[in-house]
Amino acid sequence: TGAITYDPGYKNSGACKSAITFLDGEEGILRYRGYSIEDLAENSNFLEVSYLIIFGELPTQEELEKFENDIRKYSLVNEEMKNIIDGFPKTAHPMGVLASLTSALTAFNPKVVDADCKKDLYEAVCKTMSKFLVIATWTYRKAKGYPLNYYDNTKSYVDNFLRLMFALPTSPYEIDPVVKNAIDKLFILHADHEQNCSTSTVRMVGSSHAGLFASISAGVSALWGPLHGGANQAVLEMLEAIQNDGGDVDKYLAKAKDKDDSFRLMGFGHRVYKNFDPRARIIKKAADEVLGKLGVDDPVLEIAKKLEEAALKDPYFVERHLYPNVDFYSGIIYRALGIPTEMFTVMFAIGRLPGWIAQWKEMRINKEPIGRPRQLYIGEELRSFVPMKDRK
Ligand code: CMC
Repeated sequence: TGAITYDPGYKNSGACKSAITFLDGEEGILRYRGYSIEDLAENSNFLEVSYLIIFGELPTQEELEKFENDIRKYSLVNEEMKNIIDGFPKTAHPMGVLASLTSALTAFNPKVVDADCKKDLYEAVCKTMSKFLVIATWTYRKAKGYPLNYYDNTKSYVDNFLRLMFALPTSPYEIDPVVKNAIDKLFILHADHEQNCSTSTVRMVGSSHAGLFASISAGVSALWGPLHGGANQAVLEMLEAIQNDGGDVDKYLAKAKDKDDSFRLMGFGHRVYKNFDPRARIIKKAADEVLGKLGVDDPVLEIAKKLEEAALKDPYFVERHLYPNVDFYSGIIYRALGIPTEMFTVMFAIGRLPGWIAQWKEMRINKEPIGRPRQLYIGEELRSFVPMKDRK
């Protein structure tokens, strides 16, 4: 009742109360459950951070081992899922395949989760952490035409990610600690980001009491777009285009500023961060380290640095508070780690999974009402039906 508040894009609307992630866009602060992103990126690993985000506290050694073991229990994905994968063309975008496969998991795991039952919730969390990782890597194996790999119960979560993605039957797969460390860090940086587009989608879909897989499938679709998670792929494609076009950074800056040109500088700007993105700072440093350690000399990194330098001095970007975001540098690291460009957004999805799960769980435990925004109607007033013969 009363006047409806008009807030397109929900720029100033809080849709829920949440105890998961604290974000201060002015100060560039990001904390999961009270721990700073810098602290976690430096000292923790992805599975530990996932536990923290989902359950609220850092796990004890025993709790972490139990979590890891319980995730292993659910790692077998129904064999029929392979028929679905086979039905996709090899050229299908992995994010589309991932959204479909996540939704299909509901068919093979039809149990309705009772959100009032701790055991049910815990089981749903472990199942999702497990099966989503496996199918996410399968989207890559499919695109490459490689045989699908299975979860190895003797290995850790991130080791499994690497093996599921890259291990081939023809040669032993050795995990490079530099690569593993970088993946852990990237996943931690992406693990949650309060009420962003995909997370709000997960909460919204879940608010109708749709299941966790269905809600997460919707989150994957939301993440796919280039203004959200798809930006990491778009950044790299943009940097390559600039390089192939002679490396003229100023030309692309001019395009980004031109209001008659729809081109935006991918990896720049953020709805909430208006001074800097703390994740971008960590990732920029990591990019230098990883490339140095792996001995990669990537000309695209040089273009990225030039572009960043020029944009940070340009009044257009300064006035609008447009800074490099997390995705500006993540693609460069992914590329150095041998991950193909069209898989970048899938990497983001694997990292964001604990955040989606935690937010869905919180929404259900808090018994939030169904998400149902209102609108300001601007259409026609009442009109009488016009018979076909009288229409012009
Ligand atoms: N390049 C050029 N101009 C831009 C850009 C950009 N990347 N981003 C914003 N602007 C301009 C925009 O045109 C507008 O100008 P004006 O005031 O003259 O009309 C002003 O800055 C404000 O932009 P906005 O679109 O109102 O801001 P928003 O909060 O709605 O959008 C955003 C935020 C992230 C969608 C946007 O900055 C963008 O499109 N960035 C490029 C895509 C990108 O990197 N996305 C990844 C975000 S971080 C990872 C994630 O969380 O998904």
